[in-house]
Amino acid sequence: MEILHNFSLKKHNTFGIEAKAKQFVAVQNAVELKSVLEQNKSEKKFILGGGSNMLLTQDINALVIHIDLKGKKIIKEDDDCVWVECQAGESWHEFVLWTIDQDFGGLENMSLIPGNVGTTPVQNIGAYGTEIKDTFVSCDAMTIENQQIKSFTKEECHFGYRESIFKNEVKDQYIITSVVFKLTKRNHKINTSYGDILGELEKKNIKNPTLKDISNAVITIRQSKLPDPKELGNSGSFFKNPILLKTDFEKIHQQFPEMKFYDVSETEVKIPAGWLIEQAGFKGKRFGDAGIHKNQALVLVNYGNATGQEILAISKNIQDTVFKNFGIHIEAEVNVI
Ligand code: EPU
Repeated sequence: MEILHNFSLKKHNTFGIEAKAKQFVAVQNAVELKSVLEQNKSEKKFILGGGSNMLLTQDINALVIHIDLKGKKIIKEDDDCVWVECQAGESWHEFVLWTIDQDFGGLENMSLIPGNVGTTPVQNIGAYGTEIKDTFVSCDAMTIENQQIKSFTKEECHFGYRESIFKNEVKDQYIITSVVFKLTKRNHKINTSYGDILGELEKKNIKNPTLKDISNAVITIRQSKLPDPKELGNSGSFFKNPILLKTDFEKIHQQFPEMKFYDVSETEVKIPAGWLIEQAGFKGKRFGDAGIHKNQALVLVNYGNATGQEILAISKNIQDTVFKNFGIHIEAEVNVI
């Protein structure tokens, strides 16, 4: 375990932004993690997973600890279900593909989401009708302060839309080291509630989709709308879809009857931020090496050498314009560092 100095993070963030870490170390197991934390008590620390949900706007003047813990195992099973424990540093998509190969159901709608397993609970990742909280059982996390392992149950994680306790009450206090998911072995609950998935299946004339069929449909949809970070730097949705009280929304809706919305509760609606941004004229726009993706206005992209500051400036311009046009504030989903 070597501590590297003045280390480039370009390959460690999916935006592909050039920024330097004062110090950088990759840890491969919990023992290494504990010892790095113990030996560097007075250093400022920054925990890095897959780097898929952050925008680096400056160098990191800290010891960057890259969580590279690997491994997955079945820890329990019954006739219907299996409990799989996966270490934090595994690639999320590779893990999803592995579960599908074993015919374990529950994660297939979240195929191809970038990032590592350990950061999935932090923002309760979700796509195409499923969120991680639907299969999540618990996770183990180490305290940065005194290296104790605590297990968090689903209830303790306070999951919400792209939210959890790790972004709020215990922010920056814990490092997630492993996650347990409960997956189905039979009677899979195939979820085709998201219109685009049904459309893909119909195109292929698939009537009784398998887990693999759903995963393939999701992969096709994502590839048609979302850029591959290996080809074009990005961090997925840059903004969250805003949630408004129905009473507030009704006034806005009178003015903009074409505005899309989805009911999320009796009193609230969710507005697709992608629609607001597209209407505000930003979709596909490019400013130097930074821009807004042509197929999905929620995604900001780096065409090569954009700086984090340039992308941040675009995001602020988008927020201001959307607010001016519609009176709706859209909040960043990505962590701005
Ligand atoms: N829309 C537009 N213009 C755009 C993009 C979207 O008008 O440029 C409209 C579409 O017409 C559609 C609606 O917005 O009616 C929703 O679009 P989409 O199905 O693409 O989903 P989204 O709400 O924009 C969310 C997640 C994605 C996830 C998809 C599918 C958030 C912030 N984003 O996007 O998650 O893949 O649903 O479930 O909730 C991510 O978090 O990184 C991410 C990609």
